[in-house]
Order: sequence, then C-alpha cells, then structure tokens
Amino acid sequence: MYRLCRMTALLGALLALTACGGPPQAQAPPGAEPKLGDAWFAFRAETLGIEPAAARARDAALPGKEGPPPTDQLDDHTAREAAVIWATRCAQCHGAAGEPPLEMVAQWEAAGQNVPRTWGGAARMGFAMGGDSMRAGLFRKISEGVPPGMAPWGGVLAKEQIWALIRHLEGF
Ligand code: HEC
Repeated sequence: MYRLCRMTALLGALLALTACGGPPQAQAPPGAEPKLGDAWFAFRAETLGIEPAAARARDAALPGKEGPPPTDQLDDHTAREAAVIWATRCAQCHGAAGEPPLEMVAQWEAAGQNVPRTWGGAARMGFAMGGDSMRAGLFRKISEGVPPGMAPWGGVLAKEQIWALIRHLEGF
C-alpha cells in the first residue's frame, strides 16, 4: 500500500512537470510574411465574418497594457500570425526557439546593454507565478519598447497580435 502511494505521488509529480508547458504554438509556414495594419484587419474581418472597420473597432476595444489578456478572443489565426511575426520580426534578436543568438548576446554585452531573457524553461515558472500581471507587463514592453535594445511595436501591431505574441512566448 505504502509503495503504491509512493508510485502515485511520483506519477503525480511527473504529470505536474509535463503539464507546465504553455499553450500550443503554431508553426510559421516558410516564407510567410506578417499581415500588418490594413492587411491584418481585412484578414481578421474575413475570418470573423465582419467588416474591416468592425475588426478595427473590435481590436480597439480589447484590453491593452492594463490586461487581462483576451484569451477567449484568440484563435488559430492569431496563433499562426504570431508565429509568422515571431519568425520574421523578433527571432533575429530573440531566437527562433526563444533563446537569443550568441552573436547578438555578444553585441549587447559589449555595448553594456541588457540581454533579453530566454523563453521556455525557467520563464515558464514566471508565467505560472506572475499570471496576468506578468502578461500585462509584457504587453507594455512589446507595445512601448524597452530602450535602447527593443523598439516599440504598438504603432505597428494590433493589440490582438501583441496578445497572440505573448501566448506564443508562453508556448516555448
Ligand atoms: C533588434 C533586436 C530586437 C528585436 C527585433 C526585438 N526585440 Fe524584444 N528585446 C530586445 C532586447 C535587447 C530586449 C531587452 C531589453 C531590456 O531589458 O533592456 C528585449 C525585450 C523584450 C521583451 C521583454 C522581455 C522581458 O524579460 O521582460 C519582450 C516581451 C520582447 N522583447 C518581445 C519582442 C517581440 C514580440 C518582438 C517582435 C515583434 C521583439 N521583441 C523584437 C531586442 C529585440
């Protein structure tokens, strides 16, 4: 009996460890380019069966850096878009797999600048502990930028695209 309990506890711990992974990430098809601005709202309107102006108004009404993330509004289309944005606009500094490339790290260190964190691994614990306030903080950093290393994306990406990127980070 004691042995059985020990085994169940061990299995439980293993399950808890594997369950720590974030939401599933979409893959960026090779060569795909992000849909930005009007192109994004036209696409989003089509996927939601609404007019582009309504897609814009819908995005404007979503929470921003105050959070919480509009998780129930995100879908396969936003997940795929996030994968494409990450691959084409973020990975050169943050790494395709969420770990900053060594040559970039060397440049930042030489310039005395902060090196961005590696996603996955220990960062998963950050999401588990920090929850929506961590996600809101990441929204602010992506939207407003972190000078001097990180440009602001707020004028370039829709709010929904930024929230989808944060979900993507959580999936590493
Ligand atoms: C030119 C290089 C570069 C590009 C491109 C870039 N970033 Fe960054 N990013 C950085 C650096 C450097 C930091 C760390 C800034 C600091 O802490 O001083 C950073 C910080 C961040 C942070 C905050 C991380 C933390 O630990 O709080 C997030 C989130 C982030 N970037 C997301 C993105 C996303 C999403 C994109 C693409 C849309 C992107 N970045 C594109 C260089 C870049």
